[in-house]
Amino acid sequence: MENTLFGIENLDTYLVLGILVVFGVLEVMAGYLHRSQRTRSDWIQEMGGFFALSVLIKPAIVVAVLSIGKTFIPSYIGVFGQWSLWLMLPFYLLIDDVLQYWYHRSAHEYEWLWKLHRPHHQAEEMGFFVSYRNAALYYILMPNIWWIGIVTFLGGGAGVALGLILKQLVIIGAHSPTKWDRLLYKYKWLSPITSIVERIIITPAFHFAHHGKSMKDGISDPNGNYGNMFSIWDQLFGTAKFTRRFPMELGLVNDPKEKWTAAYFYPLVTSDKPESELAKGFKKQDSRIEEPSNIHLEAGQYLWCQCGYSQNQPFCDGSHHGTKSKPLLFEVKKARSMRLCNCKKTGSGPFCDDSHLPPRNG
Ligand code: FES
Repeated sequence: MENTLFGIENLDTYLVLGILVVFGVLEVMAGYLHRSQRTRSDWIQEMGGFFALSVLIKPAIVVAVLSIGKTFIPSYIGVFGQWSLWLMLPFYLLIDDVLQYWYHRSAHEYEWLWKLHRPHHQAEEMGFFVSYRNAALYYILMPNIWWIGIVTFLGGGAGVALGLILKQLVIIGAHSPTKWDRLLYKYKWLSPITSIVERIIITPAFHFAHHGKSMKDGISDPNGNYGNMFSIWDQLFGTAKFTRRFPMELGLVNDPKEKWTAAYFYPLVTSDKPESELAKGFKKQDSRIEEPSNIHLEAGQYLWCQCGYSQNQPFCDGSHHGTKSKPLLFEVKKARSMRLCNCKKTGSGPFCDDSHLPPRNG
């Protein structure tokens, strides 16, 4: 099938590469790459992931979908061919983006999928190649790549090509430390425009919050802001957090830093670090106990564990990743003693409300 857009062959590929080059040059000019603390393993994961996705995984899936379609439903080839580009584009993009929202959200809520997405959140620095830092299997199962093949098979190739350019522009921009949106927050009079922009597309501030290490900073929400191109799904499904600020610390709490081989090839390759979620036979340990903790806390912000897997009860240690739980942020204004729940049955978290006690008769 031809890959032409506005009469130019492979225009989408050239433009996506062009976007990467532009952001790459901006990052070099701003000194981000020069100051980068990335390890060799980080570079291999990010660059290798990009090439494997672009040259192997994506083309292979699209070719597979086209072949399956031609074999089993040949009468559907090109049935959308008469659609105008301007109808095909939103059709392709909106379905693509809602699919990716739920896939990405599921990758944070289900343990097996989290293990494939986890390398993306191990990045302690942002950069456009971070977008390509996931296990190979994460991409193979990604519904969006199959969707590219399906729409192309149905005759919407031009809509896909234009959609991919726009989507890459937003995604690469959202991962780049050049933070193009800072200008929008600098001038108060731009606020109405900023509100419109951030309520439609993913801005760097919105996405950096998703990569923040801990909710304690009041900016980060690693269990929210799941959107890829549009922020509308996060707003619709209650996971949006707009702060217009950038977290200082990115990455994961308690990161055992597995070798890139385990990160990229899991589950074919597992980690040799027993504490790693990617180790063979790793199981989260349920750490809930009946008795509450009587604790003296200094003034400050705390994260109370709600999932029951933290090994630092009653506080969160990051073990909730891969579950539907997230910690509860609470503030202690003045140093004082508290009774914090450890059974996670309380109705007034983080405090114990005696839900762990057996119901009284009469
Ligand atoms: S470890 Fe974070 S909520 Fe339980």
